[in-house]
This record gives sequence, structure tokens and C-alpha cells, in this order.
Amino acid sequence: MNEDRRRLSDAGQRLLDSLVRKRLGAATTSPEPAASPAAPAADHSRWLDFHNLPGCAEQRLLRSAGSAMGLRDPYFLLHEGDAGAFTVIDGRRMINFSSYDYLGLNHHAEVRAAARDAIDRYGISASASRLVAGERPVHRALEQALADHYGQDACLTFVSGHAANVSTIGALVGPRDLVVHDALAHNSIVMGAHMSRAERRSFAHNDLASLDSLLESIRDRYERVLIVAEGLYSMDGDLCDLPGLVAIKERRQAWLMIDAAHDLGVLGARGLGVFEHFGVDPRRVDVWMGTLSKTLAACGGYIAGSSPLVEYLKYSAGGFVYSVGMPPAVAAAALAALEILRREPDRVRRLRDNALSFAAGCRRAGLDVGSSAGEAIVPVMTGDSIRAVALSQRLFERGINVQPIIAPAIPERQARLRFFLSSEHPPEDLATSVETVAEEFSATGGASPAALVRRAGRT
Ligand SMILES: Cc1ncc(COP(=O)(O)O)c(C=O)c1O
Repeated sequence: MNEDRRRLSDAGQRLLDSLVRKRLGAATTSPEPAASPAAPAADHSRWLDFHNLPGCAEQRLLRSAGSAMGLRDPYFLLHEGDAGAFTVIDGRRMINFSSYDYLGLNHHAEVRAAARDAIDRYGISASASRLVAGERPVHRALEQALADHYGQDACLTFVSGHAANVSTIGALVGPRDLVVHDALAHNSIVMGAHMSRAERRSFAHNDLASLDSLLESIRDRYERVLIVAEGLYSMDGDLCDLPGLVAIKERRQAWLMIDAAHDLGVLGARGLGVFEHFGVDPRRVDVWMGTLSKTLAACGGYIAGSSPLVEYLKYSAGGFVYSVGMPPAVAAAALAALEILRREPDRVRRLRDNALSFAAGCRRAGLDVGSSAGEAIVPVMTGDSIRAVALSQRLFERGINVQPIIAPAIPERQARLRFFLSSEHPPEDLATSVETVAEEFSATGGASPAALVRRAGRT
């Protein structure tokens, strides 16, 4: 063999060596001769320090600016019990507007009992992906109930709503396709579109004329087109125009995916969601996405649709295939909550009355609630981030917990307080809350951001 090898040219010997190396595995052979002396290694150590990540520096700057101005960090507050219409923070009972437990089911005895029973029967964890390790009867029962809810063939649940959007969009479309979504679409929709490597376009919020004309001009460039919108928008509390979207998707031969995260339990006379509100047959929507973490007081996401869609996702959606199955107790809790939602429409009526009267009260008090439809989510616009944080702090000190939504999550001028309403807020507490918000708002009115901060710091 060595004889034969010597007969080869240098280049031939190198090629033979590399083929042998490949067969044997690279570890057993000597390295290729270096073409030239190694250049001194550059110093890359600065890339190792997590502090140097661009987002990290920005977070540090915001935190130190906030504390220099006397503002407490409004995030990661420690709640001492469950957080629904009320919560306890630092030992104080507060009216809570920061949790989307819309129908007060998080502390419902039946929902808790369902979770406990499932723990007793199945343990805590699903212990592996359902694809390989199998499932429990509650997974199937929940998926059947959700499929029925949307009049669809089937449903698939994921361990998070975020994963449901990312994995589903990522699996449905690819480089020859187009995703076109509302400009206010949730991060998980945008991330799914990025992951899919499809072309991504957005249309101005709820501007269906621009969606239609976009599709008229570019539809032919793509194979599959996926339109994505939300039933009830979580920042502004306004609705999509579902009949308009269905008409466009049918005219332009596209799929329509509706993220129903915030409309289940909220919209429609019985709280069935945006399709009930508009009287649209839910089967005219190709992909229904929703979360179990809002009205259903659990955790996870779901996709409901036709059998081929759900069958395909069961074997192709990374966030399902390569992720553990939903804990059986979580599935059981969500199923119990769905049953209560369907059985007790009075909760939906109370939520609607609360949200409408809160939004109307804010408007009467001269507060700007933007385009809110008065359905569970009501923003109060502050015009800048510092005012939003300062106002949230002043309200906190008066027993009201509401989160500021600030840049960069939204454009600076659209900074706001966002109120999530619940069926369990007593109307008199809502009336007092509106008065308190209006008082604090005008106490800070017309002041410069710095003055607002000084006042907030003093309180
Ligand atoms: C519109 C929308 N879609 C998806 C999600 C993600 O859902 P989850 O929090 O259940 O992961 C959210 C989260 O709040 C949301 O608001």
C-alpha cells in the first residue's frame, strides 16, 4: 500500500490521505500540512461577555435611568397568592388589572379539582414528547372539545401559545410562500414567519383595503399565502374585521389564520370568540390558533383545523414533535375551564358589562382609550414611556396594579397603561379605579417628564 502511495503525486497522496481519514474518522490521522505559518490569533474575548450583548446594555441603561429618577422597576412583581381581579403584593391587597384571567377561572374550585385529580391519576409530567411516549386521555378530550368549539375536524395542543404560533407558521410555509400579517401581530406570529423563511409582509393595522391591494399585486409570485390576524388585539383591545378577512382570503386564494388568544371567553354573546361576535362560520377560517393561558386559566396553545392540517402538524411542527407533551393536569384544568365557559355565559356578560363601563368611565373622565372596543382590554394612553411608568407607580401606591406598556415594545408616543378587565371586578371598584386613574392622570397633566418623575418619586 505504501509502495502504491509513493507512486502518486503530492496532490494525489493528499487526496488519498483525506479519503482514508474520512473513512477512519478524522481523529486517527495527522493534520494537513499548514500552508503558511499561523497568523497570531485575534482576540475575540469581548464577544464572550454577556454584558456586551446590545440588548443587555440597553436594559442596564433603562434600569439605571429609572432608578435615578426614583421609579421602581414595574416588572417581575412578587404576587403572594393567585392573581385575578385582586392580588396581594408586599402584603397589600390590590385591585389587579395586570392578569388576563378574564372570567375568574384561575381560582375556580372545579378547575383546581380537575388539575388535582389529573395529578393523582397521571403524575405531574407527560415525561416526553407525545409523539414518542404517548398521551393521556385528557390530552385527547381537550383537543376534541377545542376542535368541536371551532366546528373543525381536529386540534393539537402545544406547551405554549408562543410555540404554537412559531411552530405552526414555521411548518406551514416556506421559501416559495408569503406570510402577510397585521402590523400589530404578536411577536410569536412574526417569529414564526421568520423561521419559515417565507417572504414576510405586514399591512397597516386593520387596513384590509391595503391587504387586498397588496395581494392583488403580488399574490401570483407565490405558491401558498398565509394571512394572519388576531381576533382581539392585546395592546389596543380592538377587533379584526373577520368577515372582511374571510372575503379577501377567499378572493385571493390564501389561507387565513386567526390568533384567538384574547377573544376566547370574551367576544360574542356566549364568549365563543370572534367568529360568534361576527356570526361567521368558524369553518371558513383555515387555521384557528388560541392559548390556554388567558380565559382557560392554564398554560399552552392550540391549533384547530382540518384533519390534514392537524395530522401534518403532529409530525412536522418542531414545537410539538420535539417538545414534551402538556402536563396532564394543565390539560385537565383547561378542559374544565372550557366547560365552565360554555355552561356559564353569565361570566361573559359580567366581563362585558365591566369592560364597557370601565372604558366609558375613562372616556367620560377625558382619558384616551385609543381604539379599544371596550371588550376586556382597555389601554389608557399616556403619550410617553416615563409618564406611563410614573402613573403606574402612583396607582400602585393607591392600591391599583396596572402595567405600563412602553417603548421599545411599542412606539414611544403610544406608551400606555393597559387594563385587563375581569368578570370578577366588582363594579364599584371599577368606578373607584376610573376616578383614581383620572385624578393621578391630571395630577401629572401637562408636566414635563422630569417633573412627573419627581412627583412619582415623592409619593
Ligand atoms: C395574541 C397572542 N398570541 C400568542 C400569545 C402567546 O401565548 P402564551 O402566553 O400562551 O405562550 C400571546 C401571549 O400573551 C398573545 O397575546
